Amino acid sequence: MVGLKRHYETPAGVVKALDGIDLEIHEGERVILLGPSGSGKTTLLNCLSALDSPTDGSYIFQGNEVPRNSSEKMTSFRRENIGYVFQFFNLLQDLSVLENIQLIQELSGKKNPTRAKELLSLVGLEEEMGRFPGEISGGQQQRVAIARSIAKKPTLLLGDELTGNLDTETSQKVMQALVEACAKEKITAIFVTHDESLVEYATRVIRIDSGKIMSDETVAQIEV
Ligand SMILES: Nc1ncnc2c1ncn2[C@@H]1O[C@H](COP(=O)(O)OP(=O)(O)OP(=O)(O)O)[C@@H](O)[C@H]1O
Ligand SMILES: [Mg+2]
Repeated sequence: MVGLKRHYETPAGVVKALDGIDLEIHEGERVILLGPSGSGKTTLLNCLSALDSPTDGSYIFQGNEVPRNSSEKMTSFRRENIGYVFQFFNLLQDLSVLENIQLIQELSGKKNPTRAKELLSLVGLEEEMGRFPGEISGGQQQRVAIARSIAKKPTLLLGDELTGNLDTETSQKVMQALVEACAKEKITAIFVTHDESLVEYATRVIRIDSGKIMSDETVAQIEV
């Protein structure tokens, strides 16, 4: 993306949530995005996933301009390419762990019971698959959410504070499961966090402040 901007008009004036972001993300990278509260991290993820349209600048995804200002086209771009993991796991409480995964497969036309089970064992939850979200821990729920987000084989996986609700030890487990899943499924990932200790799971660390990139470092090789 080049010169990406997202400005909000507010009664108090214009808020420059993103103020000229130039960024090229390569396949297989795991990027950690750090920055103070209000620096534009969520806004950037929303633009990357076409949940939101930038005010200015270009965003090319695998050679094509990403649609904007058309909710229909933005939705289909998102369906085809993007996986999203939230801070609050957003699992359906009335469905079992396995059914939560299968539902997403059905919605994206990729029903495959064997793969659903494989994904759960990838995140270490094969034994919990018949349970309901209310019957497993927060860290386990987040691992279900991760399995669910990769069930549709996204090209790009985005996470906003996905360990924000978990203790340190559980965060580590969730991140390990995530790194393994991304490497195995060849998924590029971008995670927003406030937790500096998660840097060890990244191949690249980007810091933003006031809608601008402050630093951008590659810290590890991409596994092939
Ligand atoms: N809908 C909106 N209307 C006006 N201003 C907004 C809107 N959404 C976000 N902003 C402003 O844009 C800036 C960036 O917000 P953003 O949510 O991207 O920050 P963030 O880095 O994700 O912060 P946090 O770490 O607290 O989640 C902030 O100044 C915020 O107040
Ligand atoms: Mg945010």
